[in-house]
Amino acid sequence: MKGIILAGGSGTRLHPLTKGINKHLLPVGKKPMILHPILKLQEFGIKDVLVITGPESLTPFAQLLGDGSEWGMRLYFRAQPKPGGIAEALNLGREFVGGESFWVLLGDNLFGESLASMQSHFPLKEDEAFVVLKEVPNPEQFGIAEMKDNRIVDVVEKPKTPKGNLCVTGVYAYTPKVFDVIQEINPSARGELEISAVNQFYAQAQKLKHHIFKDWWLDAGTMEDFLTANEQMKGTES
Ligand code: TTP
Repeated sequence: MKGIILAGGSGTRLHPLTKGINKHLLPVGKKPMILHPILKLQEFGIKDVLVITGPESLTPFAQLLGDGSEWGMRLYFRAQPKPGGIAEALNLGREFVGGESFWVLLGDNLFGESLASMQSHFPLKEDEAFVVLKEVPNPEQFGIAEMKDNRIVDVVEKPKTPKGNLCVTGVYAYTPKVFDVIQEINPSARGELEISAVNQFYAQAQKLKHHIFKDWWLDAGTMEDFLTANEQMKGTES
């Protein structure tokens, strides 16, 4: 499998930290944030990874990561001209992925579990997709998976009256069919192509497989989790 890491966006929730620097270059523990998802993919044996970021961040990313040989990987970079949404960024990976299923990680998601613990869900069938869920205390702030008989039947972005407390984290796997699905979805009220709309399509077709994180998961794109992540990683890494 190949991997895609999405590391564009605006990072407004971390202002002023991200006014002059891409969020994924900020330190989390002893490493820049982006290295955490890269090492997750490396640990799982993924060799080829496409990093998608804003045009202004291509140079610092290349300075930091090079061609990936330091980690025994092959890294590729592609610019998303403007932050038009996670699904828009993902769409830029079409040529990179070729024919097989692939991982997609949001560059600001940090988690304890290994991707290997999800291996039983693979390979995906062509029309299936895979997401990782996590129980959260504040479901109205996330994309929430609605469950029935242990299957996802819908995904609702920031529900006012949530039906459950399992949020869709930034760990996904798709087949190249996702690029057809992205063509089908419409931009949201904020004008972005949302990954929740893509996942909702699969959920309503009963084709969205899932794993639930038992261990910790943080969205380091929020100030609270960013600080928690730094606290948590303090002294735990070489
Ligand atoms: P978000 O945290 O949803 O968006 P953001 O990074 O723009 O931050 P904020 O809401 O605080 O302004 O993005 C989640 C991840 O997806 C993050 O790692 C960046 C990535 N992303 C892209 O690569 N392209 C995009 O257009 C967007 C919106 C996000």
